[in-house]
Amino acid sequence: MILSPSMLSADFSKLAEQIKEVENAGAQWLHIDVMDGLFVPNITFGAPVISAIRKHSDMVFDVHLMIERPERYIDDFAKAGADIITIHIESTDKVLETLRYIRSKGIKAAISVKPNTPIEEAFPYLCELDMVLIMTVEPGFGGQKLIPETLKKIKALKEYADTNNYNIDIEVDGGIGPDNIGLLTSNGANVIVAGSAVFKADDYTKVISKMLEEAEKNPYISKK
Ligand code: DX5
Ligand code: ZN
Repeated sequence: MILSPSMLSADFSKLAEQIKEVENAGAQWLHIDVMDGLFVPNITFGAPVISAIRKHSDMVFDVHLMIERPERYIDDFAKAGADIITIHIESTDKVLETLRYIRSKGIKAAISVKPNTPIEEAFPYLCELDMVLIMTVEPGFGGQKLIPETLKKIKALKEYADTNNYNIDIEVDGGIGPDNIGLLTSNGANVIVAGSAVFKADDYTKVISKMLEEAEKNPYISKK
């Protein structure tokens, strides 16, 4: 199980410090939400900020691009030090080309689907990617409530990937904390994003250990 705290809920005035703290607390990846004010209503940060924090951290940088036509910026995010780049299936008509381009840079490639996008739309790309990110809230803001209807998409993807021997990670993002993480892992997710649950907690070590513990206690049981 991998926990990927979302930097969106961190204190931006002391990013390097906050990232070190979640790393020391046991988180393996850092989730980095890039928003352009077009694909989603909010604007966050871009490649220069990622490049600045790259110098302070060896964590896996899990970059979630919520931007229109992400193909325009892959070079920038590659140079900034992304280890994984996720593009939204709804954000471009060049999904396949962009996934291939990301991989050609030696970076893991992923696609994300919004809550109302059927998971079946991701199936044709599974041999061209390393991970699928299933949004469990509408992208754009931290601190929202998980949409329960998204859970069945995780299971459908997990079953399809296993049946067809696609060895992919399944990431989930939005409204996840210690109380519901088990629901996501038992349905087949293995990479868990958590923004407010981690960064708004008083004790990062405590919340991260609790989440990883709950995840291990609620594994996916394969039907095969
Ligand atoms: C939402 C972002 C999420 C967000 C999650 O568009 O993709 O990564 O930061 O925040 P929480 O965990 O607070 O819902
Ligand atoms: Zn995200």
